[in-house]
Parts: sequence; C-alpha cells; structure tokens
Amino acid sequence: MFMQIDLTSHIVRIISTLKVENEGNGLLSDLLVALTDQEASHLAFLSVFQNEGKGKAKSPKASLPIEVLEPEGIHPHLTFYSVSLPRGLFKGETLTLEVWAVFTHILKPFPKQVPQGDPQLILLEDSGYYLSPYAVESQTLTVKLPDARIESYTELGKTKVRGSEIRYGPYQNQTSFTEFPISVHFEYNKPLLVAQKLVREIEISHWGNVQITEHYNLIHGGAVLKGRYSRLDYQASPHTNAASAFSRLVASLHRGAHSVYYRDEIGNISTSRLRSDSQKTEIEIEPRFPLFGGWRTFFTIGYGLPLEDYLFESEGKRFLNFSFGSSISDLVINELIVKVVLPEGSSGISVSIPFPVEQWQETKISHLDISGRPVMVLRKTNVVPEHNQHFQVYYEFSRFSMLREPLMLIIGFFFLFVASIAYTHADLSISKSSPSYLAKLQKDEVQIKLQQLLNIISQCLAIHDGLEASVQELSKTGDLQAFKTERKPANSLLKELLKELKPLLLFLQSSPQAARIFPKADDLVAKEQELLEKFTTKHSIIVDCYERKLSGREIENRVAPYQQKTTALRQEIDNLVDYIDGAI
Ligand SMILES: *[C@@H]1O[C@H](CO)[C@@H](O)[C@H](O)[C@H]1NC(C)=O
Ligand SMILES: *[C@@H]1O[C@H](CO)[C@@H](O)[C@H](O)[C@H]1NC(C)=O
Repeated sequence: MFMQIDLTSHIVRIISTLKVENEGNGLLSDLLVALTDQEASHLAFLSVFQNEGKGKAKSPKASLPIEVLEPEGIHPHLTFYSVSLPRGLFKGETLTLEVWAVFTHILKPFPKQVPQGDPQLILLEDSGYYLSPYAVESQTLTVKLPDARIESYTELGKTKVRGSEIRYGPYQNQTSFTEFPISVHFEYNKPLLVAQKLVREIEISHWGNVQITEHYNLIHGGAVLKGRYSRLDYQASPHTNAASAFSRLVASLHRGAHSVYYRDEIGNISTSRLRSDSQKTEIEIEPRFPLFGGWRTFFTIGYGLPLEDYLFESEGKRFLNFSFGSSISDLVINELIVKVVLPEGSSGISVSIPFPVEQWQETKISHLDISGRPVMVLRKTNVVPEHNQHFQVYYEFSRFSMLREPLMLIIGFFFLFVASIAYTHADLSISKSSPSYLAKLQKDEVQIKLQQLLNIISQCLAIHDGLEASVQELSKTGDLQAFKTERKPANSLLKELLKELKPLLLFLQSSPQAARIFPKADDLVAKEQELLEKFTTKHSIIVDCYERKLSGREIENRVAPYQQKTTALRQEIDNLVDYIDGAI
C-alpha cells in the first residue's frame, strides 16, 4: 500500500491506496479503517472509493457507504469506520481502494510567535505507518511539503529526502496496528486561512437574478506576529518581510458573475481587481493591511448571477442547483451557514445535498413583501474544499405570486402619490422595512463595530509587545537612541488608534442592541488607555534612568510598580477581548 501525506496546504490530506486481499476463508464484505482519536477529532472529510487502476485520483470520488463504529474497548484511543465494499471478496480475491481523509487544524505553528520577517515554521506529528487493523505486506509513505526547506524530520530506516518530498519505506510485513509516530518540522510561508464563520446568502429573484452575498469573518491561524508590525519594512519588501501574511487572495466566482463588489468594515474597496473569461470570474482581494498570524478581518463579497444558469425545472417543481462551499481556495470554514432565500409565495421546499448538514427554515422580510420570503438555512461545521459540491433546493411556485411585487409597487406608488398630495407640508417618512428587519440590520452593525474595536485593540497590543521587546533590547545593548527612535512613532500610532476607538464606542453606546456588551467594550477601551499611560510613564522613567546612567538594579526598583500594574492590565484586557469575542 502507498500512503501520501500532503502538507502543501494547511488543509492536510492523507491519501492511502490499499490493495486489499482476503486471505481468510469467509466472504469479506466490509473493510475497517482506523484513525487515532486525535486524527478523528480533526477529520473534516472522509471518502473511500474503488481505484480502477489508473493511478492516484486527483480528487475524491463518491464514497462507498461508511459507518462509524462504537469503540470496542481493545483500542481505546482509536476510532473505527466500517466501509461496505462494492462487492464481497472471496478467498484470494483482491480489490484496490483509495482512502481520502482530510484534516483541519492539525498543523501547529512552532514557534507559536515569529517576528515580522522571519519564516513561519510548522510542525506535524502523526503516524508514519498506515494504521491498519489488518497485517500489511508492504507499505511506503511520501510526505509532500510546500518547499524544500525542512528543519527536521523523523528518520525511520529507509528514509530519503528528494527536493520537497520525504520518502519512507518500503517496509515489509508489519503486524496489524503497528504504530510509528513521526514528526516533520518545515517552513510554510503561506497564511493559514480560517473562516471562523461564513454566511452565504443566495437570493433568488424570478426577475432574472440570483444575488450572492458572502460575509466572511477570517482569521490567520498561523504563527502570531511577535513585536511590532512595521509597514515600512513591509512595503520595502513584502515577500521577505511578511512572507506568511495574507495580503491578497483570489476568489473564483461563478461564470457570468456581474455587479461584483467587495466591502470591509469601513466601506467599498475599489482596489480589488476583476478578471473574467468564459469559464469563470475571479476577483482579487487586497485587504487594507496585511493580515499576520492571529489577526482577523471581516469583509463581504457580493455579486449577481443570471438566473437561467442556476434555476431549473423538474417534475413541476423548480430547483436551484448551486455549489455549497466558499469561492476562496485553501480555506477552512469552522462554521458555514448557507441561506437560500426563495421568492415570496414558494412552498413545498426540500433540499438534496450529498453530506449531512443541519437544516431549518426562516422567513426574510424586505420591502414590498407581504408575508416574507421563505429561507432555507443549511449549517455545517468544519468545511473544507472537498465539500464544495452541488446541492439542490426544490420548491413549488405559482405564477400568480410573481405578479405580486409589481402590483404592490403600483398600489404603493398610488398611495404615495395620494398621500403626498394630501400632506405636501407634512414630514413624510416612509418606513421601508419592518421592525424585525431593522433590528437585524442594527445587530449586524453592532457586530461589525465590535469586530473593528477588537481589531484595533489587537493592533495596539502588538505595538505594546513590540515596545516591550525594544526595552529588552535596550537592557542588552544600552542603545538608548535606538529605543527613542522606536518609541516615538509607536506612541503616536497608539494615540491615533485610540482616537479611532472613540467613534466606535459612541456608536455602541447609542445602540440599544449593544446595551449588554457596551459596558465591557467601554471597560476594554479604558483599560487600553490606562495601559498606554502606564507604559508611557514606565518608558519615560527608563529613558530618564539611562540618561542619568543609573545602575540596572536602581532602574529595576523604580520600574517594578509599573511592571506589576501593566501585567495585571494586560491580563484584564485579554479577558475582556475573549469575552467580547465570544459574544460576537
Ligand atoms: C458598493 O458597491 C456596490 C456595487 O458597486 C453597490 O451596490 C453598493 O451599494 C456599494 N456599497 C457601499 C456601502 O457603497
Ligand atoms: C448541478 O450542476 C452541476 C454542475 O454544473 C452538474 O454537474 C450537476 O449534474 C447538476 N445537478 C443537477 C441535479 O442538475
């Protein structure tokens, strides 16, 4: 058997090709696949399919039926899956199968923090043998890495490195459940993009359009930036000074996409570029600042599609045929919510999707709606590109319902006309939206503001950390001038950032939807302000001490009370950030 661990993406794919032979006397109709519990807890996708002998498959095919087995007690740290074979195997018969397993959050940045400009190193610890419930005659393992820069790897007998691949084996005649843990430590200079949450709204209008709106809440899950972020260094040389930062990404939209926009918390961004050909449309996205490890961003992509390419009719029902996942490649989605908004008056709604998802129905009310539009909501956690398959939403619709909107418009305009004649001098305000819709808009707005607030705070904290690192540097080198040059722009940047927090707080204070969270946000900003003051005083004392050439011990004594205070404040800030983050 051959096993390949593909580490060219942070979405780890382990693809095993098994040639199975039945050596027993009975008929073999199910095959066991085993994963360690640690693997099972990170498993996002598993497919087992027959290999027709034309080499390895490029993408997984439809899986044979798989069932998770209850733990049996003999191997308490393993999880078993039972695969139904396409045909039973008699003694001596063979079958070639491919096991395609996809894991998320299994790669660990090590070290956990790196300064800007240093490469990002990643550690994988896994089993080097295919964990087989059966005896294995011969096996090899290939580990595919993004490039040839390998820090270290476990050696096991026949081990070779060829460029960016580590090859193990072949190893002969292993007993069942032989385990051999390996670790590989390698350079990975790409962002580990994780959408903590993605909400995709697909709205069907029978007037010829499908409108897609995707709300992303992205975090860079890689090594956290240590010290201060320098835009100057970044601009001088983005590749060496922010190799693993995320500064641009490409979303491939469906063919025929039009009216594409990309918007972040602040507004529409026009720097995004659009390319399209007859097959697909690609939008290249550049966030306002590069995203380092631990940093997050919040943005929306929207576009329209021609209805006739995605809406079909079958047996008197209409159905939407659309892809499930994100249009951004190499993205792990912790929580994906797909909302299909159907035209008002649709009924008999059902969904067909090739893997299990949670589903429920909601109603969306927008202007001109009487009873609201039915919304089919699908939710899935731990989504990888393998889930980017087509699903269908079926519904019934009577043609009369289509006339409802224009009718409403005509009646509406008529009343508006009459009303405006009657009350020309009155202050006429028309509420276009229902209270619940408005409430939802306000809630979204509050979330965006909170997210912005957390972003700014995390930038402030990164700057503080950077300055603290410079203090360390100062105590080693005694280079006071270097510290001063570092300190001045950092302080003014911090003041700028604090200024940006003020309008956010004002907004939250005035919003009823933020009543519960506002005190925490207010406290957070106050604590950050206090932290800045304490640090400023502490740094001034240090500068003063150095200028008066006091001893290291003397400096320590003078700084100690501030040291304690800043550590305590920092802890409180972290707690508040966690609290608010949890509430968003
Ligand atoms: C952003 O641009 C899109 C399309 O050009 C437009 O529909 C949308 O209203 C704009 N949004 C803002 C906030 O300007
Ligand atoms: C949905 O669209 C995909 C891609 O165009 C196609 O392969 C698939 O057969 C369609 N499914 C249905 C049920 O029409």
